[in-house]
Amino acid sequence: KNVSIIGVPMDLGQSRRGVDMGPSAIRYAGVTERLENLKYNIIDLGDVPVSRPDSKDTIQEGNLRNLQQVSESNQTLAGMVDGEISQNRFPLVLGGDHSIAIGTLAGIAKHYDNLGVIWYDAHGDLNSGDTSPSGNIHGMPLAASLGIGHEKLTNILGYAPKIKPENIVIVGARSLDPEEKDLIQEKGMTVYSMHEIDRLGMSRIMTETIDDLKARTDGVHLSLDLDGLDPEEAPGVGTPVIGGLSYRESHLAMEMLSEADILTSAEFVEVNPILDDKNKTATMAVGLVGSLFGEKLK
Ligand code: ARG
Ligand code: MN
Ligand code: MN
Ligand code: MN
Repeated sequence: KNVSIIGVPMDLGQSRRGVDMGPSAIRYAGVTERLENLKYNIIDLGDVPVSRPDSKDTIQEGNLRNLQQVSESNQTLAGMVDGEISQNRFPLVLGGDHSIAIGTLAGIAKHYDNLGVIWYDAHGDLNSGDTSPSGNIHGMPLAASLGIGHEKLTNILGYAPKIKPENIVIVGARSLDPEEKDLIQEKGMTVYSMHEIDRLGMSRIMTETIDDLKARTDGVHLSLDLDGLDPEEAPGVGTPVIGGLSYRESHLAMEMLSEADILTSAEFVEVNPILDDKNKTATMAVGLVGSLFGEKLK
């Protein structure tokens, strides 16, 4: 496999500074070396340019904070991801806040009729400007990819929607806004909340997810928000929610995905080194990348 690393130092999709340093923190934790040890051909394409906000913490049109800047960076990211897929390379995108999933998915979904998405996250990220309690675009990327929301977010690369609701599996949810729950019901997305994970176990949930996505999709993107993990283990995130997935459960999920060999692309987002404890969260992200790419002690 050929892997292309793309950093997106984006912090404009939410209100806490520091998550723009996520890509540096993950690189510092050794992501490239880890993959090189597994004999992959790695190219690090560096970082997508991200501009500064116009004025401090002003919500612009339609309850969408920094809409213009978030849209522009996602357009650039989408073009890069598109290019890497065209060259048969696996894009590994490092965030940055979760608003960058809009661009990643725009670049990938062009190449697939039925792209599956595993959304590993405490949140659904299914808001739009109309429903968002915060105006933060990092709470909207999954909705935008379904074609819901502002045209500057839904129409990146000039097409919409990117994905179909029945091809989405959310894993680790425990903080969904009321209208996000309504949308999940209405559209029939699959959600494994912490309740299901506690009852059934990660092994069964990943088996079901993999079997289902294998049967109905032609490629699968993993969008992993580090806040899906428990904040005791992964404290370096901007919107922590207690009662999350353990490192071990996550490690198992990555190993099962690696064995199933269904992924086309992946992204690791929301690492905020300012809120972290000695780069623990970025180090955890790199450990998960290792497992996802087949590092396994037999
Ligand atoms: N649901 C909340 C909102 O819309 C929180 C979203 C958190 N998203 C994230 N990618 N961490 O503001
Ligand atoms: Mn989240
Ligand atoms: Mn998220
Ligand atoms: Mn292991």
